[in-house]
Amino acid sequence: MTERIVLAYSGGLDTSVAIGWIAEATGAEVIAVAVDVGQGGESLETIRQRALGCGAVEAYVADASDEFANDYCMPTLKANGLYMGHYPLVSAISRPVIVKHLVKAAREFGATTVAHGCTGKGNDQVRFEVGIQTLGPDLKCIAPVRDLALTRDKAIAYAEEKGLPIETTKKNPYSIDQNVWGRAVETGYLEDIWNGPTKDIYDYTATPEFPPAPDEVIISFEAGIPVALDGVKVTPLQAIQELNRRAGAQGVGRIDVVEDRLVGIKSREIYEAPGAMALITAHKHLEDITVEREQARFKATVGQRWSELVYDGQWFSPLKRSLDAFIDETQKYVTGDIRMTLHGGQAVVSGRRSGTSLYDFDLATYDTGDTFDQSMAKGFIELWGMSAKVASGRDIRVAGQ
Ligand code: ARG
Repeated sequence: MTERIVLAYSGGLDTSVAIGWIAEATGAEVIAVAVDVGQGGESLETIRQRALGCGAVEAYVADASDEFANDYCMPTLKANGLYMGHYPLVSAISRPVIVKHLVKAAREFGATTVAHGCTGKGNDQVRFEVGIQTLGPDLKCIAPVRDLALTRDKAIAYAEEKGLPIETTKKNPYSIDQNVWGRAVETGYLEDIWNGPTKDIYDYTATPEFPPAPDEVIISFEAGIPVALDGVKVTPLQAIQELNRRAGAQGVGRIDVVEDRLVGIKSREIYEAPGAMALITAHKHLEDITVEREQARFKATVGQRWSELVYDGQWFSPLKRSLDAFIDETQKYVTGDIRMTLHGGQAVVSGRRSGTSLYDFDLATYDTGDTFDQSMAKGFIELWGMSAKVASGRDIRVAGQ
């Protein structure tokens, strides 16, 4: 029986050429799998037909947009997942869901190998292959761009020679990856890290310098998950989509960073994640009133480690799973409403309310009604400073000898 290879197919030039390229190099049949993670753009049926036109023996489209929002974006929100404090893990969280569907398709179509279009310099090759090793340990991986010398020039020449139904003249100098959680743009002019991003780079956000009138939104959460916007019930996917639209119109969520890749390279990336950044900001503010201080401090450390694991391709790892369990436990009381104003590139919280809040007005107030016994503070401070005071006494004594 002819060997079969499942290819992660985006519909773009590289993966379209990869279909025939892999088939010629390996003698295998290629099955193209496109996964909908809310990336928008062309219809998936168009993409499916193109895969067939490029020589795939089967082409399969998986609608994973709700699954991606529920099982990948929501855990990221609960973790306040920001790699290096900036990047909301847009591409990093989409790879594991794509892997899940690739492995599923490999089983369905009897494939022995999974292929992806990543280069040998990035994080995504690691995320794909570590994920495949974990979910389908018997499956092999190949990356035509990395392993079968499929360069861009060769891809264009091949597509033209074979008359593939794919545009080869469109000149986009950037490498773009997008889904409902956000959009990532790199390479070309942006590789000079002093060059400011030009307007044409952005697609999810309008220029924040000329915003429309401020937009106030109330985001309601239940156990850390957004459940309503302005009182209207929404699914996680709808919450992200709607805030992409509203926060995007105000230019919220533009991020320009140089990040540390897993492979040891520092690289510059421009992100836009209006919905994700509005949600993370609101969620964090709700945690500020509903999560106990020590738990909150520890959770920030856990969230950072969680983000590093996810960035580094360890989505399916035991440690990531254990941290998920901790994070989930902290979300029990993260229920309530956040009011926020979206305007001029900012998402600013202006009010919060929660039935499970730890904010105690009578303790906090400086007005009459204050229930806090201030006389307790004096003794507390004595004891709190005792250890450092004893140590500094020793330092003075030793220095004087
Ligand atoms: N740097 C990001 C990451 O490693 C995004 C990678 C894909 N970016 C792109 N523009 N194609 O998660």
